[in-house]
Amino acid sequence: MNSPKFSVKNILILHGPNLNMLGMREPGIYGHETLQHINRNLSQLAEDSHIKVNFFQHNAESALIDRIHQAAQDGTDFIIINPAAYTHTSIALRDALAAVNLPFIEVHLSNIFSRESFRHHSYFSDLAVGVISGLGAKGYELALKYAIDSH
Ligand code: DQA
Repeated sequence: MNSPKFSVKNILILHGPNLNMLGMREPGIYGHETLQHINRNLSQLAEDSHIKVNFFQHNAESALIDRIHQAAQDGTDFIIINPAAYTHTSIALRDALAAVNLPFIEVHLSNIFSRESFRHHSYFSDLAVGVISGLGAKGYELALKYAIDSH
């Protein structure tokens, strides 16, 4: 594998719509862990590696787009994003990531390819450094470790 081409200090972790409901939302698919718990683990992991992480969850497409634009100005050098349902619908969110031109990993808790056919297409995957789908909350951790290792 080629070594990553970027140097990462500041990571933005973005969570799309309905992910604030984790823990109570369809636990058979998404597990029992809350978003707060997932973020706390990721914070710890980042702290151990002296990396700064910022978290943002929103249910509105426009707020997520605005936060991505802000990332171009605030020193963010890597994004980890679970676009949730916008994965399958949002050209606008895709365009925002293309506009800021920051490397990103796309994460899904569930395996989107083993679910309904409307979930099989992502507007993000071809732009992403990589995609992790189906490994639950561990997927965020693996994405963060990858980003940290590219430090
Ligand atoms: C999801 C998968 C999407 O299809 C779904 O709309 C979500 C969550 C996941 O993490 O598995 O909200 O991105």
